[in-house]
Amino acid sequence: MSKYSTARIPSLLTFRRLNSYKDFCECKTAVAILYLRFKRGKAPFMPDTLPIKPAGGYNFVMQDGFGRIIDYMRVSVTDKCNMRCVYCMPPEGVDWVPHSEVLSFEETLRICTAAAGLGISKIKVTGGEPLVRRGLTTFIRSLKRTPGIVSVTLTTNALVLGDFLDELVDTGIDGVNISLDTLNADVFRYITRSDGFERVLRSLGLAREARLDIKINCVPMRGVNEGDVVPLAELARHEKTAVRFIELMPLGLAANLAPVPQSEIFERLRQAFGALRVFDGRLGNGPASYYSVPGFAGKIGFISAISHSFCAACNRLRLTGVGLLKPCLASDAGVDLKAIVRGGKDDEAIAQAISSAVMLKPIRHDFYQGNGNNQHKKKNMFRIGG
Ligand code: 5AD
Ligand code: SF4
Repeated sequence: MSKYSTARIPSLLTFRRLNSYKDFCECKTAVAILYLRFKRGKAPFMPDTLPIKPAGGYNFVMQDGFGRIIDYMRVSVTDKCNMRCVYCMPPEGVDWVPHSEVLSFEETLRICTAAAGLGISKIKVTGGEPLVRRGLTTFIRSLKRTPGIVSVTLTTNALVLGDFLDELVDTGIDGVNISLDTLNADVFRYITRSDGFERVLRSLGLAREARLDIKINCVPMRGVNEGDVVPLAELARHEKTAVRFIELMPLGLAANLAPVPQSEIFERLRQAFGALRVFDGRLGNGPASYYSVPGFAGKIGFISAISHSFCAACNRLRLTGVGLLKPCLASDAGVDLKAIVRGGKDDEAIAQAISSAVMLKPIRHDFYQGNGNNQHKKKNMFRIGG
């Protein structure tokens, strides 16, 4: 069971001991921590007959106020980057967060350990560009050893991935997401404001040779890289690499660019490759919907926060580099974990704060709704964690 007992977390959480499948179904709504107790041998139900299976090896899962199971945390380790993508960062003049404000890896690990104790079992290390931070592979190794964590993956622009590949493979990392918006060197230079195209392709080749589980992320933008959708999808033809198209979200600088809706990308792919079939197997930790293409080894995925909102299935929290735990990318809400960690508080206080962030999760994002997207223009992906 969780090392945090009911008595020690009195505020928002209710622990429920479940003795039947009916109990499980009934408490799906307002329960923050669901404690599943399987009586060995004579259990009235077994884990694999449940709609969910706790992944972390514990007999409980964490649920938010809407019954969603929260088992995934994106952890941003830096706001710095060695590229300047047009939808993410201005070419210059970024006020970097002072080093002293950024959580140390020890502090981040303490938070991840507490989160794992509550039911977070999957962690994605993000940035900025995580590989610009010294000591990253050692951090990943420690995450991999954290009890309850079953999957650690990394998001990278792959500029320096090739240099770290051996170390990364050695950590036992479970996968790498590579951001690659185009296969055209000129378009690459325009989007990333960097000359690293060849290096990125080299890293991708090496990562494939190393048999890493790779997902390629492309953000199609109207008038910029729409034409790259088909060539990028080709990367999934001969290798098991998944190629995913992420709908541009109106955050920060991206609010000035035009997204290309999923339906249009889908149609381009259909014309090039024939019918795409829904893939209903499990792939990845997040909100992508996947399709199989005849003759392709890898899958094609779509992550469409706007046209196909996936809020109903949201399973994530986001820890920013400065230790703010955000329940939702689109919301201003957050819990200051750095204050707790640096304030000399114990692990239970961290666990309580994580639980309260879970309870702050809104039912859905409000991009393009109500108060418009002006407030989102002030947000930056590289600060929140892309
Ligand atoms: N909308 C959608 N995706 C974005 N990314 C960065 N900013 C945005 C945005 N505004 C992507 C990056 C990377 C992933 C982590 O997030 O391209 O692939
Ligand atoms: Fe760097 Fe990623 Fe932002 Fe591009 S999108 S500038 S690679 S953090």
